[in-house]
Amino acid sequence: MAALCDVLWLDPVEKIDAAVRARMADAGLNLLVVNTLDELNTMLCRVSMVVLRLTGDTSLLTEVRSLLGDSMLDIPVVCRVERGRLELAVAAMRDGARHVLAVDEANAAVWQQALTLIAKPKAQPQTFVFADPASQKLLVLAQRVAQAEVTTLLTGPTGAGKEVLARILHEASPRRSGPFVALNCAAMPESMIEDMLFGHEKGAFTGALKDYSGVFEQARGGTLFLDEIGEMPVRLQTKLLRVLQERQITRLGAQAALNVDVRLVAATNRDLKAAIESREFREDLYFRISTFRLRLPSLAERPLDIMPLAQLMLDTHGAERRPWVISADAEALLLAHVWPGNVRELSNVMQRALVLSHGALITAAHLVFDDFTVSAGTAVATQDVGLNTAPQRVAAAPAAVAGADLDSAVRFSEHRAILAALRSSHSRGEAARALGISPRTLRYKLAQLKDHGFTLAMAETA
Ligand SMILES: Nc1ncnc2c1ncn2[C@@H]1O[C@H](COP(=O)(O)OP(=O)(O)OP(=O)(O)O)[C@@H](O)[C@H]1O
Ligand SMILES: [Mg+2]
Repeated sequence: MAALCDVLWLDPVEKIDAAVRARMADAGLNLLVVNTLDELNTMLCRVSMVVLRLTGDTSLLTEVRSLLGDSMLDIPVVCRVERGRLELAVAAMRDGARHVLAVDEANAAVWQQALTLIAKPKAQPQTFVFADPASQKLLVLAQRVAQAEVTTLLTGPTGAGKEVLARILHEASPRRSGPFVALNCAAMPESMIEDMLFGHEKGAFTGALKDYSGVFEQARGGTLFLDEIGEMPVRLQTKLLRVLQERQITRLGAQAALNVDVRLVAATNRDLKAAIESREFREDLYFRISTFRLRLPSLAERPLDIMPLAQLMLDTHGAERRPWVISADAEALLLAHVWPGNVRELSNVMQRALVLSHGALITAAHLVFDDFTVSAGTAVATQDVGLNTAPQRVAAAPAAVAGADLDSAVRFSEHRAILAALRSSHSRGEAARALGISPRTLRYKLAQLKDHGFTLAMAETA
């Protein structure tokens, strides 16, 4: 028998029973059952298919498709809906499901047929766009820098493609067959970043049940990408500097040091010069990591990228409805927009357009821009995006908020708490204290919320 195909199975309603699981195995499917989107997200890169049970609407599908898009993965999604919910089935296909089956469908032959249907090879869309002369220049430069072993610092506004460029630096380098390991220095508490960076030996602290290799070890022979390096706590900056000077690391609790064999690429959207002046960033570390600096221009500075990127986003997220046509009025709007959220915002706008358009034509009425200036109050009121209204500016909330899955609900409450704190405080520092988090965590949370389409007008002014 052919090897089983690994499939992520998410059914928020009922547990799968052994009989169904066995029949699925007969059809060639090895089901990996997950219960939350977070769990699903961590396992996405290991499977060939995702099976979702939809209940009220397609919001679960939309969330999963957006996770896939963020990870640049092209994995087919099959949806299960109640028999008779024809409209939901149609909506699922429209929103990118590759196939829809009834929830009680346990006939191995039917699933096998679905597998064959899905297995048809699909043309891979081109992954990156560098069409504008400014981007082409940057790409050529990056390819040249990639050849050298030098530590490189990527700067540029949020969503402009720093991580994309870091991957290109890796792919174009002599280390391309080695690993590319990324660590976001803003996402975690200080002790955890330290552990993630340098690792530990079993027993080094309570709860250290196993040896753990940090990213410096994991990236051995390859590239280590330290994202948001400007958010790294000063104590760790000192430690990092020492590691870069000595080219050696010691796991927590270990006796012996290990040689470091990584090419370091760091990124920040903070003004590091200002951070140095305010003593939040070590100048000597800055010089150490910025042997070469590459600045990502904002999307507005490279207008010829806009339309090819829009097309790429449609092809990536809505491959089933290709070829896509963008109407002249939509094009005019896309070109006129200033794109404060850069490529990520463009991606959000095109994904919303996919949901709003029924066919393969995108018009101005389907374009809903992220609004970086609307205040918090309206974020709640404008979630329902009308289909026939003129181009809109809303405090764009992800479609899933309406479906109120736990993840979105948590994000939404967090958003409200943060905005309330920012409103009643005189500075971000004060707001962070009121929230019981560090200024660094607050900055990171604000960036995260922005990525999820929440407006942050209050935050911008603080
Ligand atoms: N040149 C490009 N071609 C195609 N997609 C791109 C390009 N640049 C960026 N993107 C997409 O835009 C999104 C944002 O890019 P990325 O995460 O690299 O930005 P960033 O500068 O690291 O953002 P942040 O500052 O918020 O961390 C990603 O989904 C990425 O795939
Ligand atoms: Mg980034």
